[in-house]
Amino acid sequence: MGILIKNGTLITENGKINADILIEENKIAKISENIQNDNHQVLDVLGKYILPGLIDMHVHFRDSGIPDGFEYKEDWLTGSKAAAAGGVTSAIDMPNTKPPTTTKERLDRKREAAKKSIVNYGFYIAATPENYNELASAKNYAGIKVFMGSSTGNLLITDSHTLEKIFQTAKNLNKPVLIHAEDEELLNQFAKEAKEKGTQNPKHSTDVRKPIAEHKAIENAIELAKKTKCILHILHVSTKESVELIRKAKKSGMKQLSAETCPHYLFLTEDFQQKQGNFGKMNPPLRQKEDVEALWAGLKDGTLDIISTDHAPHLKEEKEKLYWEAPSGVPGIQTMLPLLLHAVDENKISLEDIARLVAAAPARLLKIKGKGEIKEGMDADLVLVDLEREREILDEEMLSKCKWSPYSGMKIKGWPLTTIANGKVIYDNGKVYEVPAKELVFGD
Ligand code: DOR
Ligand code: ZN
Repeated sequence: MGILIKNGTLITENGKINADILIEENKIAKISENIQNDNHQVLDVLGKYILPGLIDMHVHFRDSGIPDGFEYKEDWLTGSKAAAAGGVTSAIDMPNTKPPTTTKERLDRKREAAKKSIVNYGFYIAATPENYNELASAKNYAGIKVFMGSSTGNLLITDSHTLEKIFQTAKNLNKPVLIHAEDEELLNQFAKEAKEKGTQNPKHSTDVRKPIAEHKAIENAIELAKKTKCILHILHVSTKESVELIRKAKKSGMKQLSAETCPHYLFLTEDFQQKQGNFGKMNPPLRQKEDVEALWAGLKDGTLDIISTDHAPHLKEEKEKLYWEAPSGVPGIQTMLPLLLHAVDENKISLEDIARLVAAAPARLLKIKGKGEIKEGMDADLVLVDLEREREILDEEMLSKCKWSPYSGMKIKGWPLTTIANGKVIYDNGKVYEVPAKELVFGD
């Protein structure tokens, strides 16, 4: 039996449409006013909005499919349940699992593990100085991740000759390069200086992972992308100057450059870390108020193309360690949409912006087939939202294995009510339905 959604307001990146949606099998079969159909389950959603199911193109679901890795922090089932509750219907996983996804064989192991996922899934492969053949022979992956500075795991490329070879390989394979932009040499220097001063517990990570490390890496990557003409995506942009560097590069005519920021850089500042310690530690770190403002401005004028969560769960007990031992990263996939809907209420962003930034734009960048828009013939990935609903974010409602949220206690106006993936309800009003999803298909 299909589903008939009646009386909703559909959101596309170009505007709102009042129409019904007929879902048959896993597809949007028809969009029109007043659809009549007796043999479908009817959802009357008068007064509610329907967004395209969100595509989170940057998650760390931790589960490599090979035992004794980081799956104690998250796995495909728990990560995808949190996604479903947050209106996310597709998630693309980063390769810094244990072991890291650097070969075709490891990618296939992860692919097997991801069959547990209740949201659609895809993967990146990490570049190493040696894995060119693996990048060429692996099938159906979203892009090539490069860590220019170290973070969780031990993936790292610092030498610019190797970087250029990777960018060139990506160009030849027509795959985007996704960079973690922090300059390793500077990061090491700042950490050494802080440790020599005996700094046990930096109040702000931004004092040891300074903005200049991010800027230097972005500049290098932009230069190499210009030279090799590869598609370059800059992950988790956090500073005002980074926005400016990207704005300039785009103005200079770089067509294949894109960038994202993440909810924590939009809704938190370094003060959060001062109060909450390592629960506010992530890479790159939280910055200052003027950076937050510049990021919102960058989203508005199109300098920043995408919002993704960088959902990076770590257990509470790991976060309670001393600064230098605690892992970096915060969970965020269940809370991104509530936060963005709250921002709609505060007139910082529109529903159409959300449809563009977290669905249409990632689908375009990664050439994801059948996703990212509410349109006849597309896969029926939808999220129904209530802009009037007000409630707090609560740790105990988090479905991620780590069971905490940096936004806990925040009062939010605007919540997802129902999430549909491939034509099936996977989340409704607090209840998750474990329906297996599908692997995303990335075009060439
Ligand atoms: O804070 C972060 N956490 N930044 C990263 O680059 C990686 C991520 C993780 O995997 O924990
Ligand atoms: Zn990440």
